[in-house]
Amino acid sequence: MQSEGATHKVRDISLAPEGLRKIEWAESRMPVMMALRKKFAATQPLKGHRIAGCLHVTKETAVLIRTLIAAGADLAWSGCNPLSTQDDVAAQLAAEGVPMFAWRGLDREEFYWCIRKTIELDPDLTLDDGADLIFTFHKEYADRCHRITGGTEETTTGVHRLRAMAAAGALKYPVIAVNDAETKWDFDNVYGTGQSSIDGILRSTAVLLAGKVFVVAGYGHCGKGCAMRARGLGARVIVTEVDAIAALKANLDGFEVARMDQAARMGDIFITATGMKDVIVDRHFQSMKDGAIVCNTGHYDCEINIEQLEGYKVSKREIRANNEEYVTPDGRKIFILAQGRLVNLAAAEGHPSEVMDMSFANQFLSMIRLANEGKTMTPMVYDIPESQDQEIAGLKLGTMGIELDVLTAEQIRYRDEYSAGT
Ligand code: ADE
Repeated sequence: MQSEGATHKVRDISLAPEGLRKIEWAESRMPVMMALRKKFAATQPLKGHRIAGCLHVTKETAVLIRTLIAAGADLAWSGCNPLSTQDDVAAQLAAEGVPMFAWRGLDREEFYWCIRKTIELDPDLTLDDGADLIFTFHKEYADRCHRITGGTEETTTGVHRLRAMAAAGALKYPVIAVNDAETKWDFDNVYGTGQSSIDGILRSTAVLLAGKVFVVAGYGHCGKGCAMRARGLGARVIVTEVDAIAALKANLDGFEVARMDQAARMGDIFITATGMKDVIVDRHFQSMKDGAIVCNTGHYDCEINIEQLEGYKVSKREIRANNEEYVTPDGRKIFILAQGRLVNLAAAEGHPSEVMDMSFANQFLSMIRLANEGKTMTPMVYDIPESQDQEIAGLKLGTMGIELDVLTAEQIRYRDEYSAGT
């Protein structure tokens, strides 16, 4: 079933009441966003600006969308992953009049159709998670890039690619790397990914984690979060890495470190969190134990080479929602969660509202910065200012009732003194 109108295409508009309850729940957990909404509804800094957004349509994103609108923006939205849209939330936003082009289960053609529909708004600002909107603009609407004042990017993978684009001189407008804010990646990427990925694994398998060998590919912020949380539930965690420093960190954090060729034989559950393609490939599938569970929490679905498993399997069936059983020629069963797409958003609800509160505060304040200053910024990738990180951390602590000590004038003098030694 599909509900289509002049300004929306969603799965089923009658799901709106359920979506509304979810959004209200998220709003009750996102006090920083609600404070920013109240503050900027009064001054309307985004009035006259048109934002095209391409970011997972979740209850938390709905809070961001409502806040952007409250600050005066016009916007149009698509999801940034074929399996991550929460159809009830999309329905509610469409019912509120938000131009919304998103439903769960898009194919590739539909995915880009939705992005192109948002470009019909003729945006002056773009907001991305994974950079597919920016890429589409640069590839298909290059003649319109000069009308874009700036954009933001939410995720590690997207920022990495945009920096490569900027270095090659191919980026046509300034982009703020929201991902690289400390109040984003130190919280959202670690605690958000850790909890929501385990949530996705549990919803799609309901297995006991205690005693399992849990293999985490990649020990960046996201991998670290997954490893920490799996250990917390009693799993024996093995980390695989290509970076010497990250591998050392994992080892000194108390995890075993091994090559995937070794870990493939030992793991009960595998999760990829690398941002790299072909992390788990045919030779790994060939050596996995019967019953191995394999999933990914990176942005793109290329970390597990499912095509090779498709070629290797003798049969396949859906055993549970978001869980497909592949039978190998020697009779082993390998279970792939969420088709190798991000398990935390496809099989669960994404990161909890409490961490998205800070990530989206960064998105929101960055949109205001671009609206005010974008025209004076050159086409490169910008970090968010430290003052913004401090402001968001301070707001968050305030909503938690946590107070900080304050340095005295004497302490500040001592800190900045360089003549006194031991
Ligand atoms: N990315 C990860 N979790 C998310 C969420 N809950 N909403 C939007 N984007 C996300």
